[in-house]
Amino acid sequence: RKPWTVPMLRIAKKDGRKLVMLTCYDAGFARAVDTAGIDMVLIGDSLGMVVQGHDSTLPVTVDDIAYHTACVARGLATTLLVADMPFQSDASASRALDAATRFLQAGAAMVKIEGAGHKLEVIRHLVEREIPVCAHLGLTPQSVLRLGGYRVQGRDEAAAAKLLEDAHAVADAGAELLVLECVPTAVAARISAELAIPTIGIGAGPQCDGQVLVLHDMLGLAGGQRRPKFVKDFLAEGGSVVGAMQAYATAVREGQFPGAEHSYA
Ligand code: KIV
Ligand code: NA
Repeated sequence: RKPWTVPMLRIAKKDGRKLVMLTCYDAGFARAVDTAGIDMVLIGDSLGMVVQGHDSTLPVTVDDIAYHTACVARGLATTLLVADMPFQSDASASRALDAATRFLQAGAAMVKIEGAGHKLEVIRHLVEREIPVCAHLGLTPQSVLRLGGYRVQGRDEAAAAKLLEDAHAVADAGAELLVLECVPTAVAARISAELAIPTIGIGAGPQCDGQVLVLHDMLGLAGGQRRPKFVKDFLAEGGSVVGAMQAYATAVREGQFPGAEHSYA
């Protein structure tokens, strides 16, 4: 298959083709992801939890993401690589440019930034400097201290309206992709319908333009933490690591995952 490029993302949305994304942290799993035909990988700062064993993503550093991005890039042939901007690496436009440059030089095609607000200026700064950006709204795990935990976002009318406004704002700032985490199905559906860029849901219902899961979660390694509602263990039905990835990809493309039981009404 043809290697994925950033402009292909909007085309996939226009064609009604669902995008399949997984997190990935090393070359071995990168080869499996590529073999399974997963469209995109995210070097998520979730590595702070699933690889490093921390209880939040806050301890993850720019060096950590650069290291794992380089490891994953060596294992990929066609899959698009997105690198997460870790906590405070995007606090200012100039810091963000430094970190994002390292990630692109390590093999990423795009960087992911949590939030809107002052991050809009950061998104514009990177996009104007040839760094494609994926935005991330809804539950933004780097906000855990302010939020006091990991909860569904955009539940009341005012919060839903703000989320819709922020979604338009990140797209207008130049983001080419938008991750929606833990938002009610109807809110994610409306955002997906209104934006020209694809939305990638995690706990955001089936009407997003694509889906992402944390690799460890979809392989049944959700660990000591409570397993979130949106997680499904695909290893059980897939029978092998590549099989689990293929089962996940097929379920997303055929609209069978996520179901109502993985979503928030
Ligand atoms: O870090 C991560 O894995 C993420 C995804 C859950 C979207 O940001
Ligand atoms: Na993340």
